[in-house]
Amino acid sequence: MIDRLFKKKDISAILNEPSQNEGGLKRSLSATNLITLGIGAIVGTGIFVITGQAAAMYAGPALTISFIISALSCVMAGLCYAEFAAMIPVSGGVYSYSYTTMGEVLAWFVGWILILEYLFACSSVAVGWSGYMLSLLREWGVHFPEQIAGATFDHLKDGSWVWTGKIVNFPAVFIVAIVSAFLIGGIKQSAFVNNIIVVIKVGVILLFIGFGLSYIDTSNWVPYIPENTGEYGNYGWTGILRGAAVVFYAYLGFDALSTAAGEARNPQKDMPKGILISLLICALLYVAVTTVLTGIVNYKELNVDAPIALAIDRAGAGLSWLSPFIKLGAIAGLSSVILVMMLGQSRIYYAISKDGLLPKAFSKVSPKHGVPHNATIFASIVTGLIAGLFPLHVLSELVSIGTLMAFTIVCLSIVILRKTQPDLKRPFKTPLVPFLPLLGAAICIIQMLSLPWNTWVRMIGWTVLGFIIYFAYGIRHSKLNNK
Ligand code: ALA
Repeated sequence: MIDRLFKKKDISAILNEPSQNEGGLKRSLSATNLITLGIGAIVGTGIFVITGQAAAMYAGPALTISFIISALSCVMAGLCYAEFAAMIPVSGGVYSYSYTTMGEVLAWFVGWILILEYLFACSSVAVGWSGYMLSLLREWGVHFPEQIAGATFDHLKDGSWVWTGKIVNFPAVFIVAIVSAFLIGGIKQSAFVNNIIVVIKVGVILLFIGFGLSYIDTSNWVPYIPENTGEYGNYGWTGILRGAAVVFYAYLGFDALSTAAGEARNPQKDMPKGILISLLICALLYVAVTTVLTGIVNYKELNVDAPIALAIDRAGAGLSWLSPFIKLGAIAGLSSVILVMMLGQSRIYYAISKDGLLPKAFSKVSPKHGVPHNATIFASIVTGLIAGLFPLHVLSELVSIGTLMAFTIVCLSIVILRKTQPDLKRPFKTPLVPFLPLLGAAICIIQMLSLPWNTWVRMIGWTVLGFIIYFAYGIRHSKLNNK
């Protein structure tokens, strides 16, 4: 029994699976596609919403330093992801890596955690999209019926669940459905749509940086690191650290890219490029936006839902033309985050099902479009339901813990695999092993431990559900164990 649970997949067997070549997913993504998919997944709520709040509450203008610290911790995980994605360029991302390093039952656990991450990331961003869209519609004088413009349930501070009186968050369900339609149309088409969206959102951000520069009042940067109030995390250096933990969310998404490795044309070279360049570009954009934002508006006033829009208002008539573009950029930006996260979710179902741990239907590939259509439809139904029924604060909590867990496993797996299989062909090598991956894992564990107990309870509940499914279905249908 124990043998079965911890049986490992052979890397060469994974690489030679037929579904990675003919009859399977199409390898059509170029290096540029991968970089734009990365940026598509990364730039979203983080920069358009959280930046202002984090500057106001924790770090002041020094949020730029928070962004740099957070980028460094993501780069550590990113380098490990890059090594794996180049070495094992298949669809399952971390799930597939774990199958080769830690055995089946732990791989299942990792896959299950990834489903948690992408499912909740995707639905939380869909709820955010709904909020932006509704506010834009209101501005245009369009009245959207209240009954279908919000979550059906809410979770109160006392731990109870209540019915909000609303039927469903229709715009959130709507955007999930639209994105799924593009994904079912094929990876090439999805990548094309993503490229357009990325050009819009990065273009809008660059316009803000470029035109905003001349409206900066440097007195807003003084003091650059506001004095700590005496409480941990309230400005000062501890505020910068807390800010870094908060803006970590803004970098999430580069990991979802690794699940598209099975569809990259030249994964050995291009996956590391895609992951690392998209992270770098986003880090530069974030630091620049924060610099301009805190230069135009005093950080104390930035605790609002749309900080960039506020900065444009403050800049005065000269910049007001940019305001509708920013909203458009945010709405477009969130759509592509949903797109790539949904892509990740469907590819995890696909990869797990190919191994027999989930029903076969999930790994069927549509002959016409070359995508796992059943997996995509299933992902969109579950995501749509969750986005339609639950409020943002319930959904977003689970995203961080799932991601941090996945990052920790990837960092540790790099160290394990270097020891157990030192001779594997590694087209890209993480530098400073084991120091760098171990440091990366330690940072993630510290961040996980600082999350509220509630989140841990939900995560444990999710894990138990996962193991029930594994022991009821997966273990009996596992291809590796039933050869
Ligand atoms: N990085 C993504 C965002 O900021 C999750 O929306």
